[in-house]
Amino acid sequence: MSHTMVIFGASGDLTSRKLIPALYRQFQRGRLPNPTRIVGVSRSAFTSEQWRAQLTESTAKFVKGDFNNESWQAFSQNIFYQPGDIGSEDDFHKLASFLTEVEGSQTTDRVYYLSTMPQLYAAAITQLGKAGLHLEKDGKRRVVIEKPFGTDLASAKVLNESIHQTFREDQIYRIDHYLGKETVQNILVFRFGNTIFEPLWNRNYVDHVQITVAEEVKVGRRGDYYDKAGILRDMFQNHILQLMMVTAMEAPVRYTGEMVRDEKVKVLQSVRPYKGSDFAEFGVRGQYTGYSEEQGIPDDSQTETFAALKLYIDNWRWKGVPFYLRSGKGMSCRSTQIVIQFREPPHMLFGEQKSFRPEANRIVIQIQPAEGLQLYFQSKVPDSDMKLRLSELDFKFDSTGKELPDAYQRLLLDALNGDPGLFARSDEVEQAWRIIDPIIAAWKSPAAPTLHPYEPGMWGPEQCTEWMHAQGRNWFDVCPILH
Ligand code: BG6
Repeated sequence: MSHTMVIFGASGDLTSRKLIPALYRQFQRGRLPNPTRIVGVSRSAFTSEQWRAQLTESTAKFVKGDFNNESWQAFSQNIFYQPGDIGSEDDFHKLASFLTEVEGSQTTDRVYYLSTMPQLYAAAITQLGKAGLHLEKDGKRRVVIEKPFGTDLASAKVLNESIHQTFREDQIYRIDHYLGKETVQNILVFRFGNTIFEPLWNRNYVDHVQITVAEEVKVGRRGDYYDKAGILRDMFQNHILQLMMVTAMEAPVRYTGEMVRDEKVKVLQSVRPYKGSDFAEFGVRGQYTGYSEEQGIPDDSQTETFAALKLYIDNWRWKGVPFYLRSGKGMSCRSTQIVIQFREPPHMLFGEQKSFRPEANRIVIQIQPAEGLQLYFQSKVPDSDMKLRLSELDFKFDSTGKELPDAYQRLLLDALNGDPGLFARSDEVEQAWRIIDPIIAAWKSPAAPTLHPYEPGMWGPEQCTEWMHAQGRNWFDVCPILH
């Protein structure tokens, strides 16, 4: 069986920065199905040789020390290019002939990867259908779709409906690259591959959960896109809700793509919709100072570059436990972490004063960059009169010190091999929009809560810290230690 990955948007940044390096690394490790051809499609009039030459340079730059001439020669002989415009039906017929030519008579599983502008997703799929490229006469046909999947519930539904005219749901792979991260998959192993944590993972022991995706980077050159999207669309609707799903879901009956996704969707279905004053009280909006001076941003922009939300998951396990979700650009450090904050001991035996309250237990799952996990607990200060101190058990995800593989490596391989478990299903995407849409609408309305400025290099606006204090809680504002 042979494989072909057809990349639309071949001349784009994602292709050279992520997709080709990921495929090359998997090839070097002998994991790519053999043979796997890569066919790039975009409007630029390159030949296959020219595209290969460009990719040689960019791949060497992005995979750094892992680049090796011999393996690149072997890999790149299966790279081809066919110019094409998504608006042209004729170009898709030409593409069909080109694919037949490079694949010969071999039965071939084909993956169409849409790495184009999101406005072109539906058109590209319709054209694939018109040219008969979706038909599974001589191998499987799948389509991978990059984020963003819609800009709200209505557009996501329209997009789903339009794709479903050509492809069945089981042929559609919607990317959320957070699911390809090793440490995100490890949450499932941590929870369901052990017995000692799961009994505590519920409302009886957990006070609250914090999910933070902090980025030191600012908006940079993506101003045009970002100002329309804002942080709720850019980070919450997809990545942060995915992290919440894997943290909160029930154990699936078996580890299959559908069963895992069934459990994840149930989490979103259980999220309590905001009502009335929740829109103002259950969140904090922020914008870093200097945002409106960046390229492509209007002077009076009211777009959030920081947001914190409090969500409740109304089910048997989590009823009453707040999930605090927060993300921002221009924060003090890059850190994605999930904090499981346990309740305080019911009765305190130690401490000089009655009011002494030691910090309660906490598990911190470090998604990136210091991939690992810490368990915090109280221990006795040696040679003291029952004095307590906060101690820590520290687990490093990869003790070899090597960088973990980029999320795309795993996701591209899964798409080629037909494993949809780490991709978002249509109901998942729509349900996520159902949660985020009303908040975006309320935050755009005249009754929107104040947009608080914050200095870059902080943990967001100080009002967010106060908001947490007012609820008797503290953010875990600790930058990870990189060794
Ligand atoms: C992207 C967002 O989806 O994820 C970016 O559009 C963000 O704004 C990025 O910077 C974060 O990904 P990672 O893997 O660097 O955490």
